[in-house]
Amino acid sequence: MSETDYAHHYARPLAATSSITLRTPNTADGVAVWRAVQNTGTLEPNTAYFYLIFCSDFRHTCLIAEDGNEIAGVLIGYHPPSQPDTAFCWQIGVLAQWRGQGLGKRLLSAWLDLPANRHVRWLTATVADDNQASDKLFRGFAESMGMSCTVSPRFISDHFPAGHRPEPIYRIGPIRSGARTRA
Ligand SMILES: CC(C)(COP(=O)(O)OP(=O)(O)OC[C@H]1O[C@@H](n2cnc3c(N)ncnc32)[C@H](O)[C@@H]1OP(=O)(O)O)[C@@H](O)C(=O)NCCC(=O)NCCS
Repeated sequence: MSETDYAHHYARPLAATSSITLRTPNTADGVAVWRAVQNTGTLEPNTAYFYLIFCSDFRHTCLIAEDGNEIAGVLIGYHPPSQPDTAFCWQIGVLAQWRGQGLGKRLLSAWLDLPANRHVRWLTATVADDNQASDKLFRGFAESMGMSCTVSPRFISDHFPAGHRPEPIYRIGPIRSGARTRA
């Protein structure tokens, strides 16, 4: 299978999620994104203001999945200032009723295809070391795209307030231009 075939495989919506559309958010989506993040039950909640900033100043590197007017999934990302060739996925969440149907992978694929991410060669994310679903998502995405996924220490428990799991960093790539497609 060619790189492009792989990309199409994960860009293609499965039947149950075929009504879901993806788009970059704007300021008016900030509160809905804030609520959706809370409703994932796993993502660390930030303030509503945080999501207003990301849905405006960083909107070109964020993505929301919608079923009609209802948010089904979100991806909050940015380019680390010292690594312009890298897109960092800060938070990705799919609401419970849409999980396990390929939407997480579809979000990642479409996110890399955004105009703002077209130049990047690496996708990074930190994942709590007990988050199996997220581990599978990033490893599975890399494998399906024919890319490597390395995992190395980033934030250890001591960096966090007490009781937080370590968050190693996942680095996926190198991303070749042929590996991108529209979702
Ligand atoms: C992580 C998350 C975004 C995955 O979304 P999703 O739409 O269910 O993912 P997909 O259906 O695209 O599945 C991607 C891969 O992960 C695997 N996977 C998904 N959930 C899994 C789970 N709970 N346990 C084991 N594997 C899982 C799938 O089988 C698939 O594997 P494959 O590559 O072999 O096909 C979703 O579970 C979620 O929102 N969790 C809560 C928030 C969270 O933890 N976010 C990540 C923080 S960095």
